[in-house]
Amino acid sequence: VNDTSAAAGSGASPAGPSTTPSPAVSRRRLLGAVGAGAAVAGAAIGAGGVLAARDHGSSDDAGGPPSGAAPAAATVDFRGGHQAGIATPAQDRLCFATFDVSPTASRADLAELLATWTAAAEAMTLGKPVPGDEGDLNTPPDDTGEAVGLTPGRLTVTVGYGPGLFDDRFGLAARRPSDLKPLPQLPGENLDPANSGGDLCVQACADDPQVAFHAVRNLRRLGFGTVVPRWMELGFGRTSSTSPQQATPRNLMGFKDGTRNIDATDADLMGAHVWIGEEEPQRWARGGSYLVSRKIRMRLEQWDRDRLGDQQDVFGRFKSSGAPLTGKAETDTPDFAAKNGSGYVIPADSHVRLAAHENNNGLRILRRGYSYTDGIDTQTGDLLGGLFFIAFMNSPDRFVTLQRVLGAHDALNEYIQHIGSGVFVVPPGLASGQDWGRQLFG
Ligand code: HEM
Repeated sequence: VNDTSAAAGSGASPAGPSTTPSPAVSRRRLLGAVGAGAAVAGAAIGAGGVLAARDHGSSDDAGGPPSGAAPAAATVDFRGGHQAGIATPAQDRLCFATFDVSPTASRADLAELLATWTAAAEAMTLGKPVPGDEGDLNTPPDDTGEAVGLTPGRLTVTVGYGPGLFDDRFGLAARRPSDLKPLPQLPGENLDPANSGGDLCVQACADDPQVAFHAVRNLRRLGFGTVVPRWMELGFGRTSSTSPQQATPRNLMGFKDGTRNIDATDADLMGAHVWIGEEEPQRWARGGSYLVSRKIRMRLEQWDRDRLGDQQDVFGRFKSSGAPLTGKAETDTPDFAAKNGSGYVIPADSHVRLAAHENNNGLRILRRGYSYTDGIDTQTGDLLGGLFFIAFMNSPDRFVTLQRVLGAHDALNEYIQHIGSGVFVVPPGLASGQDWGRQLFG
């Protein structure tokens, strides 16, 4: 099927990583090929591959298969102008973890780990195991093995650095990007430190949950002695579309989510709102972004008892079609001026009115979140679950501005609570031969 191999990073474009769909290539086959001495570093490339994947129903569009479909047999370029996993059409699954640097680790230890993480992440993105001396009976295997036989699943591994990393522990204070600082206290939040913060974060997205988990698990394993895991979250379904080719998914409240998200294929919008630009004095961070994570619990039992009319007023959209209350089709532009006998058709405290860029001086962010569940509350029997909100933006101040409004006035607040939080600078993509350690330390 795939006799065209792509050398690591060869498909990278300065504009950033792109998705490279291919016919099914299993990790087992790749491993076999490596064993046979073949130069295998990726999956087949080309329009033929795209058509083949579509013809066999393995991918509905560039945005990947709908939940429940076979995982996409595709790879996403690891290297490029921007890290993958931001503009990449949102994959179906997420594994997100944060780490603190161990008190005994040195600057050199951290730099070495980041180089090791780079090599491992690049290999896993290509559907290959973590590099190492496979088969030595006297040492633990270098790859934990659970992704053998699975497709690459459009895996992306995105790293970010929290404000704490830029204190004086590793000599990084002078390299701190200007807007990287802890988020201020925001209205209505009830943050659990066990779900918040971290010196480093790793966002692994894939169309197969085991591929995403495998990536984080192996980085955690390689980090032993240098970093300590702080918290981890699994996302079982994307709640945003980030490209117009993707169908809009529904969140756990049953509403279409992501309709008016930034279109990540629009370079002008991404340049204006998401990528850190030339104005940043820290040159190394230009082309990167900021990631804000919020674990938002939904009070699902209360929501499920609310009447449909009220649910629609909370968002300002129709539940079934996703259209704004002033329109008919999902993509109709909301008319925030429209009134009826009882006031605005899209209510004054509705989520979309308060969040819309028209009502926030043009402020926009790229939402890329996932639904999560933590099982049930054993005291009450209530479902524990909600939205693991992730958003990318060129300054965390954008999130703060928006959340100050939403946290204070959003009708949705009756049904949600922010219980975890993180803010990280996401460095730009890696050039050929570069690694995360050298990029960070210069
Ligand atoms: C559990 C919490 C949340 C849920 C269930 C939720 C759900 C939704 C839904 C259904 C929409 C309408 C469809 C769309 O355009 O995407 C929407 C829009 C939006 N949300 Fe949220 N959201 C949540 C939290 C947040 C937070 C924390 C922020 C940012 C601080 C945010 C920012 C936005 C923005 C900017 C829009 C687009 C509004 C527009 O331009 O029309 N959301 N959200």
